[in-house]
Amino acid sequence: MNEVINTDHFVSEAVSIIKATIAESNESVFRMSLCGGGTPRPIYEALVNEAIDWENLEITFSDERCVPPDHDDSNYKMAADALLSKVSVKENNIIRIKGELDPVESSLQCEDELRKRSGGSIYVHDLLLLGMGEDGHTASLFPGTNALNESERWVVDNYIPDKDVNRVTFSYPLINASRKILVLATGEKKKKLVNDMINGDESFPISKISPDNGKVIWLLG
Ligand code: 6PG
Repeated sequence: MNEVINTDHFVSEAVSIIKATIAESNESVFRMSLCGGGTPRPIYEALVNEAIDWENLEITFSDERCVPPDHDDSNYKMAADALLSKVSVKENNIIRIKGELDPVESSLQCEDELRKRSGGSIYVHDLLLLGMGEDGHTASLFPGTNALNESERWVVDNYIPDKDVNRVTFSYPLINASRKILVLATGEKKKKLVNDMINGDESFPISKISPDNGKVIWLLG
């Protein structure tokens, strides 16, 4: 099920959706995945001042660059600087993708950790945030890359030829197991791409974001 929200109040709308989703959850541990890039940063910064029971959240990351956690390109660093270092999320509840490791090893370690916490059945996020690129990528599922074809594993390494870099990313099976996905997209190009996709264009990686038993909110700013 899809919901498209066009808003002039992107950050506050995103914060409201995140807060409401946490508040309405009956789960003892609320599993939330953070996305990288630049779009979510002001949202994370705004969340710092919200009344959220951070002790009850388990935090994952939908992808990571293959850099150390203190590198300026690190999605973990961005989230830690903007949010995680300023709220009371338990350290043990932050499941970081270890960008400093070999990408295959990093993906295996992250998946193992998720499997431990889910008892082996699919790890279900209560809320998974995603950004998107103007080429229709999301997480590190870029057009024409191997990870798009992953149907079993939850976390995989992915070489991105256009950038000549490796990434570690959640796969479609893990992403689409989420109860709710909030896609954060700003700018006219992304807005047009989302509308093309909603109207049936399935050529983009993000077109395959379709939770089995969940909802996608497309927040367009
Ligand atoms: C990353 C993200 C990526 C990002 C999009 C949008 O590691 O960069 O996972 O999918 O969300 O590229 O990035 P912007 O928000 O900076 O436009």
